[in-house]
Amino acid sequence: MTPERLAALHGDCFTIPRPWSADEFRGLLTQKNIHLISHPHGFALISIAGPEAELLTLAVDPDQRRQGFANTLMADMETHCRAENVEEVFLEVVDTNAPARALYVACGYTVKGARKDYYNGPNGTKVSAVVMAKTL
Ligand SMILES: CC(C)(COP(=O)(O)OP(=O)(O)OC[C@H]1O[C@@H](n2cnc3c(N)ncnc32)[C@H](O)[C@@H]1OP(=O)(O)O)[C@@H](O)C(=O)NCCC(=O)NCCS
Repeated sequence: MTPERLAALHGDCFTIPRPWSADEFRGLLTQKNIHLISHPHGFALISIAGPEAELLTLAVDPDQRRQGFANTLMADMETHCRAENVEEVFLEVVDTNAPARALYVACGYTVKGARKDYYNGPNGTKVSAVVMAKTL
């Protein structure tokens, strides 16, 4: 996926955190620790540091949801992590994002902590997140 396509999809999927630009994706993809797992209708971006990985973002085209694409992306992301000797995957998710939280629970992730006022919301508001993790 090109940085432009990644940015367009991200923009279709997120208001919080704010959408990332094509230049931001281009910059991220030049970093050796950043890995992209992409399918025609979605993508996952992870950062790997030694035995730990962080899921930076996950997006599936709004017109293509509930068909298992996120499940497949998560499985492929974990396969990639295992090949890179990652032992644990972490992620942050907006605490009210019920679809994503349900997905992560279904994929075996458990809540490890809370991040109060973690994201910037609309009109100067703050939005809290939870930290979830899974041992591979
Ligand atoms: C969260 C998201 C990635 C899910 O993508 P998806 O391709 O629709 O998910 P899947 O079809 O693979 O669903 C897998 C499981 O996740 C859960 N799930 C997904 N969407 C759900 C929803 N709207 N409500 C409840 N559970 C949901 C279910 O357990 C589902 O299994 P099921 O369909 O057998 O019930 C997608 O809704 C999205 O891109 N949202 C906006 C961006 C976002 O929130 N990203 C994650 C935060 S970083």
